[in-house]
Amino acid sequence: MPRTLGPELRLALAARIRYYNEMGIYDFYRRPSPAPSLALDEAEIAISEHTLAPGEEMSPRKATAAPVAIEENIFEVIALKPEQTVSDPVKALTIIREDLGDCTRCVLHKQGRKQIVFGVGNPKAELMFVGEGPGADEDAQGEPFVGRAGQLLNNMIKAMGIERKDVYIANIVKCRPPGNRTPEREECATCSPFLMRQIAVIKPKVIVALGAVAAKTLLAMSASMMQLRGRFYDFRPAGMRSNDPHWDGCKLAVTYHPAFLLRDPRQKGEAWKDLQMVMKELGMKAPKANT
Ligand code: URA
Repeated sequence: MPRTLGPELRLALAARIRYYNEMGIYDFYRRPSPAPSLALDEAEIAISEHTLAPGEEMSPRKATAAPVAIEENIFEVIALKPEQTVSDPVKALTIIREDLGDCTRCVLHKQGRKQIVFGVGNPKAELMFVGEGPGADEDAQGEPFVGRAGQLLNNMIKAMGIERKDVYIANIVKCRPPGNRTPEREECATCSPFLMRQIAVIKPKVIVALGAVAAKTLLAMSASMMQLRGRFYDFRPAGMRSNDPHWDGCKLAVTYHPAFLLRDPRQKGEAWKDLQMVMKELGMKAPKANT
């Protein structure tokens, strides 16, 4: 039988898990309860003795001591984010944006960004595109994919028979990396929890990861584009619990980043195959070609 946590222990656990979340740690594993004999006050002692100092790494022994076995649904309770209590997705996205604030969580905030590029589009979109990070045009306008790569993405969306306003578009990192460099892993890890929250609000049916950075970050795996493309992945936003019994994640497909397609237009046919796979999944028909 799951035991009920006292309010103090619940708060301590919530603070601990928030602390891990802020360090980019979202996956917790529940060990089989060793013994019903772990008394609540023993668990409380375990928490206070093993509070980590900022920057201190969790040793294996401390990991073992993390008292996650006490209550069955503790992470469901704790991982529920403020926006998940709101039914209007516009309001929910606003809550996430406000939480992001004038973000200084990673070095990108002091490397010349003009503004945070949060995301744009239909907050109830069935289809979501995720890129890498804003470039100069996006940084200037505060909207993802508005430069040359954005024009090509718009054309790709149009070829699917839909419009840009029908989908939701966001990036792994919300601030422009200087000189359009690839975002560092740490920057992706720091920023992507906000994208995960956006995804959990929008609840798309399909996400298209544009390029390797988006694919690898969302799927938390390392592989070549060749290995990643051509199939669907079951995707659940990391660190999130669905607050909706009708949405338990979505499909994710990987295709080439539009900027890559601008450099190597011969690959456009391959990208179109990826999008056709997505259209089939969504029951969409390509518009008839003009004759
Ligand atoms: N490239 C991206 O990955 N995202 C943008 O928003 C623009 C270009």
